[in-house]
Order: sequence, then C-alpha cells, then structure tokens
Amino acid sequence: MTVMIAPSILSADFARLGEEIAMLEAAGADWIHVDVMDGHFVPNLTFGTKVIETVRRVTSLPIDVHLMVVAPERYFDDFAAAGATGLTIHPEVSPHLHRQLGRIRELGCAAGAALNPSTPLDAVVEVVPDLDLLLVMTVNPGFGGQRFIAPMVDKVRRARELLDRSGSDAWLQVDGGINRDTIVPTWQAGADSFVAGNAVFAASDPGAEIGALRARCAVHV
Ligand code: DX5
Ligand code: ZN
Repeated sequence: MTVMIAPSILSADFARLGEEIAMLEAAGADWIHVDVMDGHFVPNLTFGTKVIETVRRVTSLPIDVHLMVVAPERYFDDFAAAGATGLTIHPEVSPHLHRQLGRIRELGCAAGAALNPSTPLDAVVEVVPDLDLLLVMTVNPGFGGQRFIAPMVDKVRRARELLDRSGSDAWLQVDGGINRDTIVPTWQAGADSFVAGNAVFAASDPGAEIGALRARCAVHV
C-alpha cells in the first residue's frame, strides 16, 4: 500500500514559508497539509485563501486543505480557485455533508471528511461513496504539537474495515501527534496518509524526517 506523507505547514516558519515548502518538496513530501481554523469550531485562528494561493505559487505538490471551520461551504469556491487539491470538512459542523462533499467534487477537488476523536464513524457511514479521503483525527483539532490519542488506533482499524467493506478507495488519513512511534500502529491499522507537523518541523533535519517516517511504514509491512 502507498504511504502518503503530508507535512502540516502549521508548524512551519512563516517568515520563510516559500523556502520551507521547497524544502518539503525536495525531501519527498507527497502532499502539503494546510490547516484552516476559524476560532469558532476550534479555538485557534490560522489562514485562508491568500496562504493557499501562496503555497500554490511555490509548489506543484497537491495541497490538502483541512477546514476546521463552521459552515465550510463559504470557502469552497475561493479555496478551489486558489489551487487547493482536496478539501476536508468536519461532519460536526457540516449538517448537509452529502451536498457539501458533492459540491467539493463539482469544483474539481478531492472531497474529505474529518472526524474528531469523540465523533463516531457512523457520522460518515451514509456518505462513503462521496468520499475521496477519510480523516481520523488522532488529537482534538486546534493546535499542533499535541499528544497522540492512542485509542484512536482502533478507530482507524474500524475505518479501514468500513472503507474496504464499501469498496471505497478513499485515502484513510490520520492527523495529530504523528511521529516515528505513532505512525507504526496507525499504518498497521490501515491508514495510508499521514499528516505530521511537529514531528517534521521540530526535527533537527526536517527533510530527513519525512523519509524516516516513510521508512517506519516500510519496515512494518
Ligand atoms: C491539528 C491539525 C494538525 C496539526 C498536526 O488541529 O489539524 O494538522 O498541524 O500537528 P502535529 O503533527 O504537530 O500534531
Ligand atoms: Zn490538519
């Protein structure tokens, strides 16, 4: 199975964003993960269209946008036009998930749904055919550098079963506290896309860390 490493620029040095992204690309990152937070769904506030446009300008890698915002549909058109490759929304604040995921696809983007640790998988059971990505949060969203919630490994395993049972080829992503240790059980449980912020950017050699994370999956096939 393919391993997709998606460094989160939340932990990047914003004074050097262009260089940081060039470094990630040269180091073999597969996707660039952009965490959009609105200060309502999550306490933190981050970035919007302008940053997505900036990332698009400096890389040809897919841009994986994680919307931790209420009423995310307000941003679909702008983010798609800014160059987002995928838009991932939270069912907790997306009551019309079927329509919202459909709209993301209509805009030519990959449609993702992200589940908070306390949100059951049932929240996406009815929309599996509408998903290109399912994100199982392994921390409560809002901040980088938090500790991995170990019981989420079993949720990843059940999410893998759900996707396989449904004949879905959607990516199964994990996000939050992913590092050399925690990537192994999530990979073994069936995740194939790994967001990493702190693990990459706090490493002494951030570029090498991307390869190290990938290698941890290769030795645990
Ligand atoms: C958390 C964000 C994550 C975050 C991951 O709310 O969705 O993408 O940046 O950061 P780390 O890897 O530091 O937990
Ligand atoms: Zn994220």
